[in-house]
Amino acid sequence: MIKITPKEYQTFCKYVYDICGITLAPNQSYLIETRLAPIMKRLECTSFSDFYNKCRADRLKKMEQEIIDAITTNETYFFRDKSPFDLLQHKILPDLIDKRSNRAGIPPTIKIWSAACSFGQEVYSIAIILKELLGSDISKYRISIVGTDISDDAVARSSYGLYNQFEVERGLPPNKLRLYFDQADKGWRIKDELRAMVSFRKQNLFQSIAALGRFDIIFCRNVAIYFSQPDKVKLYEKLGSALAPDGYLLIGAQESLTGITDLFEPQRYLRSIFYQKQQK
Ligand SMILES: C[S@@+](CC[C@H](N)C(=O)[O-])C[C@H]1O[C@@H](n2cnc3c(N)ncnc32)[C@H](O)[C@@H]1O
Repeated sequence: MIKITPKEYQTFCKYVYDICGITLAPNQSYLIETRLAPIMKRLECTSFSDFYNKCRADRLKKMEQEIIDAITTNETYFFRDKSPFDLLQHKILPDLIDKRSNRAGIPPTIKIWSAACSFGQEVYSIAIILKELLGSDISKYRISIVGTDISDDAVARSSYGLYNQFEVERGLPPNKLRLYFDQADKGWRIKDELRAMVSFRKQNLFQSIAALGRFDIIFCRNVAIYFSQPDKVKLYEKLGSALAPDGYLLIGAQESLTGITDLFEPQRYLRSIFYQKQQK
């Protein structure tokens, strides 16, 4: 494996930051070396400087995307951490349905965004909760669930909705597997009825999110941990602008908004926390 020099590491840290906002720590050079090694081997690079020059010369930015796919951590699983999905089922959706159902004659709209959705397990977990909560009444609502990620690979895999045995055994109860997935050649594929409830698209959280519109619920979990403090501030400001005034924000179990932004107010329900915008 080709070793990275301290100077090359500095250059790559800046490059990775510029393309996806991930801030690498000074002791993470092994991550660059190991994760980029297969791409460098394929391109027959002789050093990281050689690799960097090839990346910069790639006008179609295909290598940039390959680096993003290699550097990002896609760890995820169905119903991850459980409590956000309990909150969704028992508190957030019932409250929202109540609030949105008051307008006579207009089907209530519920818009949900899973920002940085990785391979889609979070998105399909949300769809399953909605399906189970609303049952046959689901057709009376205008529901939109959007999953976005910076990685082309993640967006493609999410859209296809195929999971291997290991992946479906992580967090997905067996009865839900039987109800919502069809056995396929290489694993389990999400059924069309759930697939039809969701959509996926590419979105770098550091670029404008205006085109996505406004959401009632935003899941943005386990991605801000890779960003610097000032970038977390910018991210949550952006999420605030995309959230309805009475909307709900859910962040990761290891994440907190304390000391980052006072745009949101923590709300406690049972033993879980969700966030709502501070009322001015
Ligand atoms: C650890 S996964 C989290 C998946 C899911 N939200 C969960 O909690 O299980 C982090 C995801 O963030 C994505 N990501 C990293 N930087 C990003 C950025 N700047 N914009 C959008 N997505 C990003 C990665 O591609 C990866 O799929």
